[in-house]
Amino acid sequence: MIHDPNRVYVFDTTLRDGEQVPGCQLTTPEKIEIARELEALGVDIIEAGFPISSPGDFQSVVEISRAVRNPTVCALTRANKGDIDVAVESLQYAKHPRIHTGIGASDMHIKHKFNSTREEILERAVDAVKYAKRFVEDIEFYAEDAGRADINYLAQMIEAVIAAGATVVNIPDTNGYCLPNQYGDKIRFLKENVQNIDKAIISAHCHNDLGLATANSIAGLQNGARQVEGTINGIGERAGNTSLEEVVMILKTHNLGLHTNINTRNFYEISRMVASQMRMPVQANKAIVGSNAFAHSSGIHQDGFLKNRENYEIIKPEDVGFPNASIVLTARSGRHALKYHLDRLGHHLDRAELDVAYKNFLTLADNKLNLNDDDLLLLVTSDSLYGQSVQK
Ligand code: KIV
Ligand code: ZN
Repeated sequence: MIHDPNRVYVFDTTLRDGEQVPGCQLTTPEKIEIARELEALGVDIIEAGFPISSPGDFQSVVEISRAVRNPTVCALTRANKGDIDVAVESLQYAKHPRIHTGIGASDMHIKHKFNSTREEILERAVDAVKYAKRFVEDIEFYAEDAGRADINYLAQMIEAVIAAGATVVNIPDTNGYCLPNQYGDKIRFLKENVQNIDKAIISAHCHNDLGLATANSIAGLQNGARQVEGTINGIGERAGNTSLEEVVMILKTHNLGLHTNINTRNFYEISRMVASQMRMPVQANKAIVGSNAFAHSSGIHQDGFLKNRENYEIIKPEDVGFPNASIVLTARSGRHALKYHLDRLGHHLDRAELDVAYKNFLTLADNKLNLNDDDLLLLVTSDSLYGQSVQK
C-alpha cells in the first residue's frame, strides 16, 4: 500500500483521556454506543481504555474490540509488563490492535514522579516497547510531558523506541504548557534529527490548560506530525484535550495540504451523544458544535448574513451536521432579521407595517429573553398586547 504523505490519522481518546474526567464515567454499553458512532465518524484509531485500571475498563476494551471493525482499537499501558499483559488480553478480539505504552520524558517527571534517572527511564521505555512488540505489531509510544522535556533527551528516547519497534511516537504536551511555535519546533526538531523517524508516524497529543490545544496540534501537523489525538467536544483532564472537531474543520477550511478521513457531517450528532452520556454540556459558544456556533444575533451581522451568508459564515452548518444557521431575535436585532422571520411565518409586511411591528418587537425583546414564533405572531395579530399593531 502506498502511504499518502498528506493524510492525517485521527486518534480519538474520548473513551480514555476524556473519560478520566470526574463524573464522566461511562458503562460498557454506553462506551460501545460511542465507539460505533466514532467508527461512523471515520476516526482511524479509538483509544478504548486503560485496561489495567479497572475490570470495567478491561471489559470495555474487550467489547469495543468486538464491536468495531474498521478503526484500530488501542489500549493504554504504563511501561511495565503487568500493564502490557492485561492490555494484550483485552485486545484479543480486535481486528487491528494497538498498544499505547510510555513513560515520562521530562526531568520533572523523571525526578519527581519516578525518582529515577534519564538512563534508567530510557531503558524502561525501550524494554516496554520490545515487550509489547512480542504480542502486537502496532505499538505507539508516548513520551509523557514531552512538552517540557529536554529536546535532545527526547530525541534520544524517540530514536531508541523506534529502533525497539514503535510504529507511532506520541509527543504529548501533557500539561498544555507549550506555545504553538514551541510545540511545532519540537516536532520539526524530531523530524530533522531522529535518524529513523521515517519508520514511525509522529503523533500530536495536546492539552488545553492555556487554551492552546488546538493551535498546538495544528502547529504539530504543520511541522511533520501525521496523527492527531483528541476528544469529541475537547473533554479531558483539567481544561481538556484537543477538540477533534476543531482540528478536522481547520484542515477542511484552510488549504494546508493535509486531509483526514472524517465524515464531518457526523460531528453534531456525536457531540450531542457524548455530552449527554458524559453529563458534560457543551458550552454555547464552543467552536463547531456549540449551540451558538451558527447563530447570528446582532443587527449588523444579521443584515450582512441575510445579504450573503458568507459575510459571516466560514463553515456551512450542514457540513458539520448542524440543522441550519439561525437568526436569533434579541433587542439587538434589526428590521431585516424581523422581516426574515415574519416572512418565514407567512406575514409579508410592507415598510410602514414593518416599522410598527419593529417598534413593538423592541419593547417585547427588552422584556423577554427568548422570543419564539408565537411571540412574533402576536406582534402581527393582536392590537392589545404590545401597543399599536398591524393586522394583515
Ligand atoms: O497527556 C498525556 O501525556 C497522556 C498520555 C498517557 C498519552 O494522556
Ligand atoms: Zn493526555
